[in-house]
Amino acid sequence: MDKKTIRDIDVAGKRVLVRVDFNVPQDDGGKIGDDSRIRAALPTIRYLQERQAKVILCSHLGRPKGVEAKWSLGPIAARLGELLGTGVPLAGDCVGAQAQAAVAAVAPGGVGLLENLRFHPEEEKNEAGFVQALASLADVYVNDAFGTAHRAHASTEGVAHRLPAVAGLLMEKEIVFLGKAVQRPERPLACIVGGAKVSDKVKIIEHMLGQVDVLLVGGGMCATFFLAKGYGVGSSLVEGEMVETARRLEERAKSLGKPLLLPVDVVAAERFAADAPARTVAAASVPEGWTILDIGPQTVALFKSELRKCMTVVWNGPMGVFEMPRFAAGTKGVAETLAGLKATTIVGGGSTAEAVYALGLAEKMSHVSTGGGASLEFLEGKELPGVAALQDK
Ligand code: 3PG
Repeated sequence: MDKKTIRDIDVAGKRVLVRVDFNVPQDDGGKIGDDSRIRAALPTIRYLQERQAKVILCSHLGRPKGVEAKWSLGPIAARLGELLGTGVPLAGDCVGAQAQAAVAAVAPGGVGLLENLRFHPEEEKNEAGFVQALASLADVYVNDAFGTAHRAHASTEGVAHRLPAVAGLLMEKEIVFLGKAVQRPERPLACIVGGAKVSDKVKIIEHMLGQVDVLLVGGGMCATFFLAKGYGVGSSLVEGEMVETARRLEERAKSLGKPLLLPVDVVAAERFAADAPARTVAAASVPEGWTILDIGPQTVALFKSELRKCMTVVWNGPMGVFEMPRFAAGTKGVAETLAGLKATTIVGGGSTAEAVYALGLAEKMSHVSTGGGASLEFLEGKELPGVAALQDK
C-alpha cells in the first residue's frame, strides 16, 4: 500500500485520534446485532495500546438529526469494553469541553470513546471549525474506518489535513485485499454481482468488466437483463430505464471477449412473500405475474463450475432474497462454493457480508469487507476521499 500506516510512525505517549466505523446494527433496545465492525478495529486499538499511545476513538452511528439518545455510542462503549477486557469511558460529546476532559483522562495505553460524531451536522459538512475542534484533541490521526472512507466528512477527510494522518491496520487490510483483487489479481479473476437493482451495480459491472476474466450476474437485477433479452419476467422488479443499460453491458462484455453469465434458471414465486407458492423454472419461462426471488440450482452449478477455475473471486450482492429461507439457496450455494475454493475470496460488505456471517462461513473467506458503500465504490474504481487524504509513504 502506498499510504503510511500506524507502523510507519511513533505513537508512544501521543494522543492518537482514531476514526473507526462503529456504525453497527442495533435493535430498538440498543442491543448490538452484528459486532464484526467493532471486532475488526481491535488490532489497531491493541497495537496502539501496546505502544503506549493515548487512544481516542471516534465514530458515527446511524443518521441522527442532531442529538438523539437512541444513537448514543453508549452500548458500543460497553461492547468494546467487554472485548478489550477494560472499561471504555464514553465522553459526553466528540468536541468541546467534555471531549477535552475525556481526552485528558486517557492514560498512555488507555482507550476512550467520543460520542457520536453525527450529533453535530458540521461533521457531514466537513466544516472547518468542527475539523479544527476534532484536530485539537490529538497529536496524530489514524483512519481505520474503511466503511466510511467513501465519505468526505470532517472526521474521515478534513482532519487528515490538520494532523499527521495514517491508516490503521483494518484500513490497510481492506485496501490491500480489495486493491490486489482489482489491480494485480491472481488469474483467472471472477466477479459475482448480485442485488436487487442494476442501477446500484452498473458502475461496478462497468469497471470490473475491464478487470475480470468472467462476470457472473445473479440477484433480482437479472430480471432487467432478462427483459433486455426479450424474456417475460412476470411481476419481478425491473428498472425500465435500465433495460438499455443491461443490453449495453452485455454488448460490452461481448466486445471485450469476457463471458457475462446470467442465471439459466430461477426460483419464481406467486408473490413477494416468505410463504408464497414457488417453483424453479427456466430463466425464460417465469410464469405470468410471478416474481423472481432466487437463482435456481442449475445456475448455482454453472456458477460453481466457473468459480472452480478461478484463483481470485470478488463477490458483491446476494443472489436472491436470502432473508427468506426458501429463497436463500442461491446465496448459500455461492457462499459455500467460495468457502470451498483454494482461491483468494473477497466478499464485499453490506448485505453480502451479512449473508456470509449468517451462514457461518465468514471465517472460510480470505476477506470479508467491513465496508458496504465503501467497498462498492472501491470496486467501481473510485478514489475514496478518506484514503486519498492520508499521507503517502
Ligand atoms: C456504512 O454503514 O455503510 C457506513 O458506516 C457509512 O454510513 P452512512 O452511509 O450513513 O454514511
